[in-house]
Amino acid sequence: MKIHTLTNVHGIEARIMTYGAAIVSLRTPDRAGNFANIVLGSDTLAPGLAGVSYFFGATVGRFANRIANGRFTLDARTYQLSQNDGVNSLHGGPQGFHQCVWSAEGSETSHGTALRLTYVSAAGEEGYPGELSAHVTYRLGDDDALTIDYEATTTAPTAVNLANHAYFNLTGDPSRTILAHLLTINAERYTPVDATQIPTGELRAVAGTAFDFRTPQAIGSRINDADEQLSRGHGYDHNWVLNQSQPGMMTLAALLSDPDSGRSLEIRTTQPGLQFYSGNFLNGKPAADGGSVFGYRTGLCLETQHFPDSPNQPAFPPTILRPGQTYAEKTVLIFRTLPDGSAAPSGSTSIVA
Ligand code: BGC
Repeated sequence: MKIHTLTNVHGIEARIMTYGAAIVSLRTPDRAGNFANIVLGSDTLAPGLAGVSYFFGATVGRFANRIANGRFTLDARTYQLSQNDGVNSLHGGPQGFHQCVWSAEGSETSHGTALRLTYVSAAGEEGYPGELSAHVTYRLGDDDALTIDYEATTTAPTAVNLANHAYFNLTGDPSRTILAHLLTINAERYTPVDATQIPTGELRAVAGTAFDFRTPQAIGSRINDADEQLSRGHGYDHNWVLNQSQPGMMTLAALLSDPDSGRSLEIRTTQPGLQFYSGNFLNGKPAADGGSVFGYRTGLCLETQHFPDSPNQPAFPPTILRPGQTYAEKTVLIFRTLPDGSAAPSGSTSIVA
């Protein structure tokens, strides 16, 4: 296991670990120019801990998010996947990509320093058909953007959905919660879930609900509302349907800011969905007890991805990859600071589809 460091001219630093192709730390300045780590993790912390997976900073796959009953049918054959979330399969199963050591190759490009990680997943691994060659490239540019490129090819038809599982805490202090962060999500609809957190298939309007983040909202302002979806997710743990002018078109996904430190994060992506997870299962217990080290809601994930359970939901954007095709998705994280006295990034007060 190795850790590689990417830096840019402004002193921003991303450290990437070959175990799980994970972001271990991400140091960015606050509005006074003080640098701190804005993701949960540590050098010695593997993405999966003591048999309980929290996926800290990891690349999750072969299929990010949940697949109902860990099962799907493709070309008339049914595949049974490893189940690690009750009866469901979550983030590729217990030995998913977050538990694998990826090979890494660094390079200097005209757009910044880059690290390309590769993992070849054998046919049948965690129940998935086809040998999948997966690549994740992290590139940190002098424009203060960390670009994540995902690519994959397969030897037989399979389901693919790759995402990064960083937990952000823009205060830079992991003992504080993320409830005062302001979040904007470029989505009119989200995918409500059943009692086991599998989408029901409905695309529900966010208007008039606690899921409306079309304008900046403090994460904590409605998180405890009496709402069946919030109780099923134990808070926010849902997929938003991003406003895309056409499938695969790079678009704004979310804006996150911390009014205190002035740090802000803009996320753009080619992916159709965004899982916003408010760290509801973090519990601050020592790792030896199967706990997470980090406290309740001290980090939040903004996972750009395809919708959960897509292989079983024909109306969702497709996630099946066939031999001869190349899976390619891109997500960009842009680090900025807010001017003094401002709480939300300018221009973000309303997002137009
Ligand atoms: C899921 C949560 C899950 C968490 C595990 C998130 O991506 O949406 O439901 O508990 O990963 O850390």
